[in-house]
Amino acid sequence: MPEQTREPSLVLVGLMGAGKSTVGRRLAQRLSRRFVDADDEIERAAGMSIPEIFERFGEAHFRDGERRVLARLLDQDGIIIATGGGAFMHPETRRMIRDRARSIWLKADLDTLVRRCARRADRPLLKGSSARETLGRLMEERYPVYAEADFTVESGGDAHDLVVDRIMQVI
Ligand code: S3P
Repeated sequence: MPEQTREPSLVLVGLMGAGKSTVGRRLAQRLSRRFVDADDEIERAAGMSIPEIFERFGEAHFRDGERRVLARLLDQDGIIIATGGGAFMHPETRRMIRDRARSIWLKADLDTLVRRCARRADRPLLKGSSARETLGRLMEERYPVYAEADFTVESGGDAHDLVVDRIMQVI
């Protein structure tokens, strides 16, 4: 029997507004691989939107579902996965991603994140607060952890296709 080549899945991590979903979709097209948005999968599995999950069951419940959905996705090789910004922060989820796939941190500056997040009003963590303040705090908390990803690619300001080019160069 011919030996099967196993391409590891690629997992995009980074803050809200870093471009994970858009870049992931385009990267998948370039590589002719399947793209999966983990947030969409969580919504499908729960039968409700992420804001609704946060509101009805709280963040801890959401994180648990996120971990289970990612565990299932990571059983597949060769796909491109965009994660929600908090997924890589959770030790067990992070360990799973690091063990079973290649991770890419899309690193963006605060102005870019604020500008992009202003286009979507449905992010529970940004509700009722200054997005700039919250994103600034999350950058401090999360950037040292995102830095544990296998690759770091600058994703601030630039067109998403350039970010895809950069990823193609490092993987
Ligand atoms: C979150 C990011 C969101 C979503 C949820 C929590 C976070 O995904 O998973 O609102 O903790 O940063 P995006 O990064 O795709 O916006």
